Parts: sequence; structure tokens; C-alpha cells
Amino acid sequence: MNAPLVDTFARIHDNLRISVTDRCNIRCFYCMPEDNVEYVAREEILSFEEIERFVRVAVSLGVTKLRLTGGEPLVRKDLPVLIRKLATLPGIKDLALTTNGVLLARQAQALYDAGLRRLNVHLDTLDRERFRRITRRDDFEKVMEGLDVAQRLGFGPIKINAVAVKNLVEPDIVPLVRFGRERGIEVRFIEFMPLDAQGLWSRENVLSAGEIIETLSREISPLIEIPDRDPRAPATEYRFADGIGTVGFIASVTRPFCLNCNRIRLTSDGKLRYCLFAIEETDVKGLLRGGAPDEEIAATIRSTVQKKWIGHEINTGKFVAPPRPMYAIGG
Ligand code: 5AD
Ligand code: SF4
Repeated sequence: MNAPLVDTFARIHDNLRISVTDRCNIRCFYCMPEDNVEYVAREEILSFEEIERFVRVAVSLGVTKLRLTGGEPLVRKDLPVLIRKLATLPGIKDLALTTNGVLLARQAQALYDAGLRRLNVHLDTLDRERFRRITRRDDFEKVMEGLDVAQRLGFGPIKINAVAVKNLVEPDIVPLVRFGRERGIEVRFIEFMPLDAQGLWSRENVLSAGEIIETLSREISPLIEIPDRDPRAPATEYRFADGIGTVGFIASVTRPFCLNCNRIRLTSDGKLRYCLFAIEETDVKGLLRGGAPDEEIAATIRSTVQKKWIGHEINTGKFVAPPRPMYAIGG
């Protein structure tokens, strides 16, 4: 195998996040605008063959972990076909999908049959009305049904992602985590990041991991940090002192984990990004469509990783929000 993908800060990159579409069937306010969403033209979206080829080259450079994201990946037609290709690729050790769950009940069996096991389902609340307020769609029941079906089929681990927005989700934290404990699902709180389409983010709107830990410890049972199993995983995990269940925190704002980052991202229109917050991106679609040999694609991946910065600067005055919001980059 070739030398691993190391950047100038000695971080090894073995994790590729692939956005398969920028389209979404709901409109979470911390990601999408309410209406007039500008989507990438269909012909600009990478085909499954193009994605597969890119992944093969990335695997030759040491990538072993893949996560499919969006937009909402399940709105991409025939996604199980891509999953089957990727799940059976030699060198892939881990394949996961992040979904909002709305189409999960319908597609879970096909996804399972294609070889997918790991799922992150995006869900902020167990209250239908609050769900509607956050996502501007009335699909709460569908997500719950999706979770039911996925669990019944034997997906695992299943995790729930909740975005931690201050003065909004406080009433949801405890019920969501109780639900997770009952169902054997880890809830992960992701601090609200400046990636929304409408510029609503401000530091004051971030509900910190610390505040959530305090609430859960008080209302449910004390939380105890679990020593890092994988120091390069962005989530810090905690277990409850009463022995039931775990909770994860992706504290991107209050405890940045950039120094351990092992991820690169491919957008649905074929741009390679070394960071969620990167301002610059590298075009790979042109290479894939222009007949470039594998070596050239490999060299481009390497040089993009070489450009990677030390980390985002959300906490400094220097921070500049990336030009594309979350749904266009891929979460
Ligand atoms: N801040 C933090 N997390 C976000 N997500 C979407 N928008 C934001 C944001 N502004 C999360 C969702 C989704 C994941 C891909 O990214 O929880 O599950
Ligand atoms: Fe859609 Fe995910 Fe963005 Fe919500 S966070 S609008 S589910 S892409």
C-alpha cells in the first residue's frame, strides 16, 4: 500500500465522509433555509461509478472508514446499489450512514440487505409539535417508525444525533436520553455549529456539552466519562452511574477536537474538503470525468490533505463561516 494520508500536523486520515446528495426532504432550521433552497444541478452530482472509483483510490491511500451523508442520503435514488458496492470493497472496515430517518422505514430492509449495519438517525425531540417547529415538516411519526423498523431488522449500533441549540432543545434532552436508554440507542448531542443557511448561529445559541452533562447527571443519573476507545473519534462518550446506557457529545464549539481529526469529505458535486469549515475545496469531479488516471486522483487527495489547516477558529475573531451551509457540504 502507499504511504498513509498524513497532513503537516501528523494527523493520519483514514476516514472519508461522502455526501451523496445535497437534497433533503425536511428543513431543519440549523441547516437549511425555509424555502428557495438552491440545489446543485443533477448532472453535477457524482454518479455511483464516480464515487466508487474515488473511494477505491482513497482506500489505496489508507482510507478504511466511510460514512454516507447528505442532504438526506435516502432521497438519492437506488442508494442500496451504492451501499452494496462500497460494503464489499476490499479495505473498507467500516461503513455507516447518517439519515434523518423519514424514509428509513421504507428503505431499511434494502439497506440491510445491501450490507449496511451502522446508522445515525437525526432526531432532536420526541414531541411531534416541536419536531415540526425544528424541521418545518410533520414527519415525526415516520422517523419513529424508521427507528422501530431498523431496530427490528437488527441494525446496530444505531445512534441518535441531536443538535444542541440553546433556548430551544432544553426540554427535549432528558426525554430523548431516557428513550435512548430504554431502546439501547446512544444519543449524541452535537453542539450547534455556524453552518446554518440563514446565519442564525451565534455563540449564545450553543447549548454546551457541559450544560447538557449537568442536566442529565441531575435528572437521570451521574454521567462518568468513558476513557477514549478511539482518541480520533470526535464524540466523547459518557456512561450513566446506574449502569444503563451511554451518551455522546460532539463538542465542536466548546471542546474542539481538530487536533485528532482524521476526516476528509467528498461533496455530492465532487469537491474534496479537508474540513467541514474549509473555505477552499479541491475539484475532483473534473478529474473523474476528464479521464485522469488513478495516480492523478491520488496525488490530488494527497495535496488536499497537505493543505489542511490546524483547525477551525470558531472561538476566535478570525472565524469565517464556510461559503456553503451544512446540507451542501455534507454533515
Ligand atoms: N450544527 C451542528 N450540527 C448540525 N447538523 C446539521 N446542521 C448542524 C449545525 N448547524 C447535524 C445533524 C445531522 C448531521 C449530519 O449534522 O444532526 O445529523
Ligand atoms: Fe436535512 Fe439533515 Fe439538514 Fe435536517 S440537518 S435539513 S435532515 S440535511
